[in-house]
Amino acid sequence: MPQPHITSNELVTSKLFDLKGKVALITGASGALGMAVARGLAVNGVNLVLSSVEKEALQQLAEEIRGLGVKALPLYCDVTSESQVDGMVDEAVAGFGKIDILFTCAGLAHRELLVDQSLENWRKVMDVNVQGTLLCCKAVAKDMIKRGEGGSIITVGSVRGHHAHRDGYTGYGTSKAAVHYLTKTLAFEWAEHNIRVNSIAPCIFWSDLTEPMLSDDKNAQKYLARIPLGRAAIPEDFVGAVVFLASAASSMVTAHILSVDGGVVGG
Ligand SMILES: NC(=O)c1ccc[n+]([C@@H]2O[C@H](COP(=O)([O-])OP(=O)(O)OC[C@H]3O[C@@H](n4cnc5c(N)ncnc54)[C@H](O)[C@@H]3O)[C@@H](O)[C@H]2O)c1
Repeated sequence: MPQPHITSNELVTSKLFDLKGKVALITGASGALGMAVARGLAVNGVNLVLSSVEKEALQQLAEEIRGLGVKALPLYCDVTSESQVDGMVDEAVAGFGKIDILFTCAGLAHRELLVDQSLENWRKVMDVNVQGTLLCCKAVAKDMIKRGEGGSIITVGSVRGHHAHRDGYTGYGTSKAAVHYLTKTLAFEWAEHNIRVNSIAPCIFWSDLTEPMLSDDKNAQKYLARIPLGRAAIPEDFVGAVVFLASAASSMVTAHILSVDGGVVGG
């Protein structure tokens, strides 16, 4: 087998991380993390399919993204529905001809002690976080395999997928551990097609959801004490990781859970 060869010219950062003209599909694009990643990819020349269950927010984001000089297609899709996910991928491919990058950012955070938790609440978290991720990966990978040009799939896990916690994370933590395993197993299934599958595992970051927890200093200390870097992340902290995993800079990286957590899982 011939040894792959990369010239020094291809190692300059402008080539290594070049994403210009690529197409990315982002689920949960209207959430805090999805929006930050959408903006981060757009300023790097990536055309975007923006998806979630919030029609108005998607329209606004799409307008803003077009203002950054790339194409944006907003698509409503509930990721728990296989027919909607398949329809979204068909529309994305019809609109842009291909999908190079999938970022599965749609997710539900739910905390409830198990003894108080209904089976319905458990299922809701599993349906969005696990089944939703699986359906999007499946539909996009089928198209990537058909095209034969490979691709990069990036899921969103969590520190809670690694570390157990007593504050009612039975559903959420289990769902994120499942996302980590799913990521690794899909990486193995699709490696022969040069589809890389990796996950980003964040610590707590500022969003509408976490603002009440973090803006109260006493309460925030409970969360920050676990983070060696001593601060909660902001959504923009994850853009570098997504650009790395989407680009040629990570061409030998797959089945990896990349912690962007200020050092939490190092402990
Ligand atoms: N906020 C944190 O501290 C934190 C920490 C670790 C991991 N995460 C993970 O990061 C991801 C994004 O989190 P966020 O804080 O931006 O959340 P968010 O609540 O701001 O956004 C969630 C997004 O998912 C979409 N969504 C929800 N249900 C959906 C469904 N059925 N179908 C399609 N889209 C749906 C929403 O429309 C929204 O766009 C989630 O997977 C979350 O679990 C968040």
